[in-house]
Amino acid sequence: MRAVYAESINPDDPLAGLVVGERPDPSPPEGWTRVAVRAGSLNHHDLWTLRGVGIKAEQLPMILGCDAAGVDESTGEDVVVHAVINSPGWEGDDTIDPGRTLLSEKHQGSLAEYVIVPKRNVLPKPAEFSFAEAACLSTAWLTAYRMLFVKSGLRPGQSVLVQGATGGVATACITMARAAGFRVYATARSEAKQAKALELGAHEAFASGARLPEKVDAVMETVGEATYAHSARSLRPGGRIVISGATSGANPPADLNRFFFLQLELVGSTMGTKGELRDLIAFLRATGLRPHIDRVLPMESAAEGLAAMASGDLVGKIVLEF
Ligand SMILES: NC(=O)c1ccc[n+]([C@@H]2O[C@H](COP(=O)([O-])OP(=O)(O)OC[C@H]3O[C@@H](n4cnc5c(N)ncnc54)[C@H](OP(=O)(O)O)[C@@H]3O)[C@@H](O)[C@H]2O)c1
Repeated sequence: MRAVYAESINPDDPLAGLVVGERPDPSPPEGWTRVAVRAGSLNHHDLWTLRGVGIKAEQLPMILGCDAAGVDESTGEDVVVHAVINSPGWEGDDTIDPGRTLLSEKHQGSLAEYVIVPKRNVLPKPAEFSFAEAACLSTAWLTAYRMLFVKSGLRPGQSVLVQGATGGVATACITMARAAGFRVYATARSEAKQAKALELGAHEAFASGARLPEKVDAVMETVGEATYAHSARSLRPGGRIVISGATSGANPPADLNRFFFLQLELVGSTMGTKGELRDLIAFLRATGLRPHIDRVLPMESAAEGLAAMASGDLVGKIVLEF
């Protein structure tokens, strides 16, 4: 089958190890199923893999990709793939299983003509979602859903700052936060991106690091080092940073005085459970919201999509079609 995979690791030039080529057709073990992938979306996770973060050279070649929508060959149903693979027999919150992995970490990823997953890792794709839209849900949008509605403690009417407005997770945060009735502030690195944030639903958008008109109840943080100090400065006493990523670096200044004196909270968040993915899909159906897709590319153009992601030249999700 054709697949988008990492053949080697290169921390400085991630695309150097990228190959679009042939990999063996997978066959599902007992309890697993094979999905014929129609669309998969790119995530920053794919760049981390190519850089060697979360993977060792001896695991290569590794097919990239966490997200997919396609046809479940064991049922013939159109499905969305849930990317969190749990240890056999795990019960409880999928995301805190110590043995959990995401597709493309231990098991081969979703950016291929076929992906195999445990049977419990597929959900029906609603007919009103295109395969491309459905392929955006199980990483970026699910992560945003858990950050906003499970981890933030926000109630409708409260205020939220979304840092780095135009990324996959951030665009999902802005879109859903607006629909949920939060007051939404966003930051982005350019005026053009700030304008996009307003189009996506932010009430106001600012340059990275700018002073906001008010202190906010919560911050959705995926940028890390470059924005973290501003996140802490932007919170009201008792406010909360929910963090799921550190694209610009993971060693920000801690500013601990501010944390205890203002009783701030820093809460980690990763992906989401299968139940949360089901709820996300129901939320999008109820509101009519859909993921913002920057572009749809044929799988053979994976390098173009990953290069755009590496340089920050995107708004929302990049989808590969198979
Ligand atoms: N924990 C989890 O389960 C989970 C799930 C999904 C993603 N993540 C992580 O979250 C991060 C975002 O993922 P993604 O897929 O949304 O990535 P993406 O689509 O590539 O978006 C990148 C984002 O980073 C921002 N950014 C990068 N460098 C910056 C800098 N120096 N200053 C300010 N902003 C900067 C961009 O903001 P602008 O709008 O200003 O360009 C943009 O929002 C990644 O690190 C990813 O690994 C974690």
